[in-house]
Amino acid sequence: MNVTIIGAGYVGLLSGACLAEKGHRVSCVDISQQLVEQLNQGKPHIYEAGLAELLGRALDSGRFRATTDLDSSLDRCDLVIVAVGTPSENGVIDLSSIVQISRRIGLYLRTRDRHLSIVIKSTVVPGTTDTLVRSEIASASGKDFPSFGLGMNPEFLREGNAISDFMEPDRIVLGYEDDKTLQLLEELYAPWEADKIRVNTRTAELIKYANNILLATQVSTVNEIANLAAALGNIDVMDVVRAVHLDKRWNPILEKGRVTPGILSYLVPGCGFGGSCFPKDLQALRSQGREKGIPMHMLNAILKVNDSQPRQVVDTIAHELGDLTGKTALVLGLSFKPGTDDVRESASLKIVRSLLQKGVKVIAHDPVATHNFKTALGTPGDKLHYVDSWTENVDKADIVIVATAWPEYQELSQLHLEGKVVFDARRMFQPSAFTKGKYLSIGRRMS
Ligand code: UDX
Repeated sequence: MNVTIIGAGYVGLLSGACLAEKGHRVSCVDISQQLVEQLNQGKPHIYEAGLAELLGRALDSGRFRATTDLDSSLDRCDLVIVAVGTPSENGVIDLSSIVQISRRIGLYLRTRDRHLSIVIKSTVVPGTTDTLVRSEIASASGKDFPSFGLGMNPEFLREGNAISDFMEPDRIVLGYEDDKTLQLLEELYAPWEADKIRVNTRTAELIKYANNILLATQVSTVNEIANLAAALGNIDVMDVVRAVHLDKRWNPILEKGRVTPGILSYLVPGCGFGGSCFPKDLQALRSQGREKGIPMHMLNAILKVNDSQPRQVVDTIAHELGDLTGKTALVLGLSFKPGTDDVRESASLKIVRSLLQKGVKVIAHDPVATHNFKTALGTPGDKLHYVDSWTENVDKADIVIVATAWPEYQELSQLHLEGKVVFDARRMFQPSAFTKGKYLSIGRRMS
């Protein structure tokens, strides 16, 4: 079918390229002429494994085009998917792009005598599609629902795994307000055999938040337990966590042995979650809940633990070494997780700022995120240097902090670390791997 996607950002571009791969004809609309030209030359503006190849194939097949011309694109499409940003403004969701696009679609519909279904893919707080989007389109078009259709189809794309998450999803949520839109969504996702959940749009919206909140809950809860283990002393929280992971309700025992579900990787202590979704989504739902008179105690606690978690790193090092002024720290990993150059809400931002405040010289490394990190951190003065090769800089450091679990940092345990402190903020290593240097980590204080 012919699909228009509005917004060629991470979600819009990726969804568009994947839908084209499955045989749909996709027109991806963006206001940036420069971005549109770049995409039509096959050059994605974001780093995601496999995306450049996927976009190349989509362009070659003739089933994908980026454009700035919304009206012509809408004229040709059966269904429009909205994938614009919904950032957080002081903890409250900013729906201004959604409003703007809804009005723009409404103005288009005012001049055409046709049916169009509008499906929101952007993450929006529950109730947005069936109230705000509906009323903006209605007032700009002069026509009321159901003369146009409304749907909500959340994405569950993990950065770094986004293409396989889209192509082999665990479920597809088809949120709809009218039968025609459901029928179009069924057609859109007909090539996929995944479980499909058919619900109204506000349920679809809440599913997206609930999913992320429950994952973030695991992270903050295990981090709080880790902090207690460290405060008690003589407990390594990894021993605790490994035993908990073996509970058969977390890790079922089947005929062929253990399953080891993916959820367990969120149940590992570290220096906190980050990225473009978890922090923003939790804040948005907390704010909506409070507005509705629900205090959202859980969300508050998850966010509070996460906000202070990066502090555990510098506090533990200071507890061991005392005054850190004049020391040199090598920080390994700047992105919020491995496999991405995204540094939004990355714990490394807080760790580096805190080290600099304590008078520590910082050498920072990341395989792909250095450029974004520099921009996000601002101008740090002359105490911070970025390096391309981390192994060559281990010698210069008194402290080595593993802040993102990039697989290449596994090599650290094979290097000469005499007299150095290693802080494993992602619990990548066995403590026994460090016989020469001093090994410190989240959730373990043996002295
Ligand atoms: C997340 C959701 O997983 C995805 O479904 C949603 O649509 C967008 O938000 P993403 O932000 O890419 O995707 O990150 P994810 O891989 O879930 O990681 C989020 C946080 O959890 C990160 O800070 C990461 O370090 C932490 N995490 C991730 C873990 O602690 N363990 C893991 O195994 C994976």
